[in-house]
Amino acid sequence: MKLRPLSLRTKLILSFLIVIIIGGLLSLSLGWRLVKRTIIDQAQLKVKHDLAAAWMVFNKKLKEINEIVDLTAAREGLQEAIKSRKKDILLKSLSRVRENYGLDVLTLTDHNGKVIIRTRNPEVIGDDQSQDEIIKSALKKGPLAHPQIVSRDELLKEGQDLADQAYMEFIDTPKAAPRPDNEETNGLMLKAASSVQDEYGNHLGVLYGGILLNRNYEIVDRVKETVYKGEKYKGRDKGTATIFQHDLRISTNVINEKGERAIGTRVSKEVNNAVLKEGKPWIDRAFVVNDWYITAYEPIKDIDNKIIGILYVGMLERPYIDTTTQVMLTFTAMAFLCVVFLLVILYFSTTRIINPLQKMVIATQEIARGDLSHKVEMKSGDEIGDLADSFNQMTAKLKSANKKLVEWGKTLEKKVEERTKELTEMQTHLVQSEKLASLGKLAAGIAHEINNPLGGILIYSHLLLEDTDKDSPYYENLKKIVKETSRCKLIVRGLLEFARPKEPEMSLVIISEIIERSLAIMERQALFQNITIKKSYASDLPQIVADSAQLQQVFINIILNAAEAMDGNGVLTLESSLNADGSLIEVKFSDTGHGIKKEDKKRLFEPFFSTKEVGKGTGLGLAISYSIIQKHQGTIEVESQPEKGSAFTVKLPVVKEIEHD
Ligand SMILES: Nc1ncnc2c1ncn2[C@@H]1O[C@H](COP(=O)(O)OP(=O)(O)OP(=O)(O)O)[C@@H](O)[C@H]1O
Ligand SMILES: [Mg+2]
Repeated sequence: MKLRPLSLRTKLILSFLIVIIIGGLLSLSLGWRLVKRTIIDQAQLKVKHDLAAAWMVFNKKLKEINEIVDLTAAREGLQEAIKSRKKDILLKSLSRVRENYGLDVLTLTDHNGKVIIRTRNPEVIGDDQSQDEIIKSALKKGPLAHPQIVSRDELLKEGQDLADQAYMEFIDTPKAAPRPDNEETNGLMLKAASSVQDEYGNHLGVLYGGILLNRNYEIVDRVKETVYKGEKYKGRDKGTATIFQHDLRISTNVINEKGERAIGTRVSKEVNNAVLKEGKPWIDRAFVVNDWYITAYEPIKDIDNKIIGILYVGMLERPYIDTTTQVMLTFTAMAFLCVVFLLVILYFSTTRIINPLQKMVIATQEIARGDLSHKVEMKSGDEIGDLADSFNQMTAKLKSANKKLVEWGKTLEKKVEERTKELTEMQTHLVQSEKLASLGKLAAGIAHEINNPLGGILIYSHLLLEDTDKDSPYYENLKKIVKETSRCKLIVRGLLEFARPKEPEMSLVIISEIIERSLAIMERQALFQNITIKKSYASDLPQIVADSAQLQQVFINIILNAAEAMDGNGVLTLESSLNADGSLIEVKFSDTGHGIKKEDKKRLFEPFFSTKEVGKGTGLGLAISYSIIQKHQGTIEVESQPEKGSAFTVKLPVVKEIEHD
């Protein structure tokens, strides 16, 4: 099946749409990335600050322990008690301090580091703590506090419950780095130590105390409260904090699926590598327990600057992602609305382009159908308007060309008609001339033969008539013979004149003078008494070379014929003129006589053609006139309307110089 080609409008809209969609998709995806990046960057910056705040909470706790231990160590009673070895009193007062300040451990050693009083577990004493780095430093540098890994043995000394508090079995964490063991027996403690001195500055012993961080949620919850104000997002804590012992979560407010604190799980391998192995901070998104967080991790170091754990804060990524999605959805919806709006505008703007084109198409169809007067009505000043103008100009030219063509066709037809008529006339003329010529030859032969015998008859009959007495019975007959013979002689002479006309004697003549002379001869005759003669001679006629006597003979002949046709009553009009190109002089004789029948018209110039009564006309008048005019290289034309009149026009060429053979 052949698909219908797309319309111009569809093509235009499609091409715009493709550009818009490609551009839109590109800018949308760029926008997505940009917005996401910006929002996540902001979040990461915030989490970095949050981590700093968490450190403040962490260090504040450390400082707090330090101060408790330091102030307690400085008590006068303590020194006195050590000196006097009043253990009971000492134990009592130190135990009260431990309980009052919520310390897990508060222990006193002598100046050799040997435990004198262990407030948490008074039974176990006498062990040596002199190798403990914090205690060593306290002796040398004064009071100090640090996080520290405390072994299970040490914890056990403080009590089974504390060792149990520290003990943790690993919970399977898919992304964590593998570890050979599957439990943690040691603990992470915030520990402070301060030396006890007498008034002379002698070291009497060391007091140390601390808090076990394992399963102690005070710090992480305080971070959550102070930094995140306990904000929640869809039922979950927005911000979380964790303390790791190495990679193990020992104190956290990240919640697992069961809704419990996710202690016992471990940090991901990536963070492990970056923070624990390389000692770098880690700020990025990370999958924590069961959700994505924007996180910040930093190593926790002990007194020897050894990395022993991690402090972590993290914000749920979801609110940021949701914000990004919301922003982008709004953005996308706006982009979509813009596309729809653009499409509507496109639809109308293409209409503005296509409507004129459709008009043009209709116009071309109309013109193809032959309606050249069809015009494209358009008033826009743009290229399409120009096109319409040129189109209208083209059709206008086409129309005028077509009109000219039709006119030219008509004139051609007319010319062909005229030419055909001329040719037919010429042919008739030619036939007539040939006919007249052969008739002339025949007539000349006969006339020649008859002329001499007739001459003899006329002479002898004359002689006989002279010799006969008037009373003789033969006299009248002889008279008739003489009369008829004279008539015969006249006819024969006319015939000879027609057949062998005399060579014209050429001279420069004035045509109107010859007409006047001919008229003067005729006018006096009775036949002309009741005939009105009208004259109209052109004044600018040139003189021409002609035989004036012969022309006079022709004119007399024609004037006489006209008078006879009018039966001596009517109007005879004489006109002379020069034709348009000045090559011919035309003399026209019009009468109001009986006219010529159509069948007679062809025979007018034949010798002996006459409609007059026998004996009245010889029928040679026009035949002789014709041969004379022919000798002058001219023509005689006849127009006639039966019962209304006839017109004979003699046309003579304007020859101004006499030709000599
Ligand atoms: N003006 C005219 N009106 C009507 N018919 C004419 C006119 N002139 C000539 N004819 C016709 O043409 C014929 C021939 O004319 P043509 O002059 O040759 O001979 P004719 O006049 O009859 O005789 P002739 O001239 O010898 O006296 C005429 O008989 C007449 O019928
Ligand atoms: Mg005549």
